[in-house]
Amino acid sequence: MRVFLLLCLLAIGNAKPYEPINVMEFMKNYDIMMADSADEESDEDDDDDNDDNYEDGNCPSDCRCSPRVVQCSDKSHISIPEKIPEDTVILDLQNNYITEIKENDFKGLNKLHGLFLIHNKISKIHPKAFRNMEHLRLLYLSYNHLTEIPVNLPPNVIELRFHENKINKIPKEAFKGLRKLHVLELGANPLANAGIEFGAFNGLSTLYIGIAEAKLTTVPKDLPSSITELSLDYNKITKVEIEDFKRYKNLQRLGLGFNQIKSVENGSFASIPSIRQIHLDHNRLKKVPPNLGSMRYLQMIYLHGNNINSVGVNDFCPMEPSFKKNLYTGISLFANPVKYWDIQPATFRCVSGRRGVQLGNFRK
Ligand SMILES: *[C@@H]1O[C@H](CO)[C@@H](O)[C@H](O)[C@H]1NC(C)=O
Repeated sequence: MRVFLLLCLLAIGNAKPYEPINVMEFMKNYDIMMADSADEESDEDDDDDNDDNYEDGNCPSDCRCSPRVVQCSDKSHISIPEKIPEDTVILDLQNNYITEIKENDFKGLNKLHGLFLIHNKISKIHPKAFRNMEHLRLLYLSYNHLTEIPVNLPPNVIELRFHENKINKIPKEAFKGLRKLHVLELGANPLANAGIEFGAFNGLSTLYIGIAEAKLTTVPKDLPSSITELSLDYNKITKVEIEDFKRYKNLQRLGLGFNQIKSVENGSFASIPSIRQIHLDHNRLKKVPPNLGSMRYLQMIYLHGNNINSVGVNDFCPMEPSFKKNLYTGISLFANPVKYWDIQPATFRCVSGRRGVQLGNFRK
């Protein structure tokens, strides 16, 4: 029973445990990608012929090497191993005890594409550590002890992950020049709204930003206007207002679950006409957010675990039958104090399939 409770608490806290990365899967993707771009950079695959008779005579100690991949995960490295081959494309240092990245730790590793430093004890990164990393696309620094965003990040990085560090401040232009950044994970850091300086995300055209499990009390309004997916679950946001999403016209998926939201101002979602999925479960809403019927592409809305005590017949679907709305595939309303038998069946006239609605202890 105690174990069960503990598991429940863990689930509620969304304490995502560290999940190791499968480096070989990455390598497959990398090879496919390189094959695709082979025509453009034909001078780069000269050395591919050597792969078959690869010898790992120069593999760093306590690491496993295969062609262009160096894996030193799950050992007891306390610093970056020496003599990493210069043709290394993927360097995996997950789950070690590395505390610091020094100036010359990656010197000469100009071909790196993926650098996985997840689950170490890194609190310090030298400002020049990532110099000459023109090819680095994936930089994973989640589950470390960083208190700030490293400076001089590799210019062509596509994915940056800082999940679960101790970052409490994002200074202005922290990600300056990272034009290719698509994924920025900042979740599980002690970030409050005041810690995000105005202009922190200047110049980015990021598609996904994650700031779940932080200390936000309102929706940050200065994120890149390009985002299509925003995860702000498990914060302390208390309300949703018209200004909140004005910039984020391309948003398709919005995560606001497990906050303290009491109200959604009418018109808040009007500026995100492409939205497909909204998570508002586990908040303090007393009613269904207004005007959902006008959201043409909205297909999933999660409202379970709120204080909703009545649901009107036009709360989800357009009033005028001529308005074309994509059918919902998911509406969740369970764990609300509404009397489910009072909800008129026509309320769900724009839902596809019988399993689209999750009410109380039955499914419509
Ligand atoms: C919300 O705003 C829309 C459009 O301005 C309006 O038609 C609708 O009646 C409003 N709903 C509520 C609940 O105020």
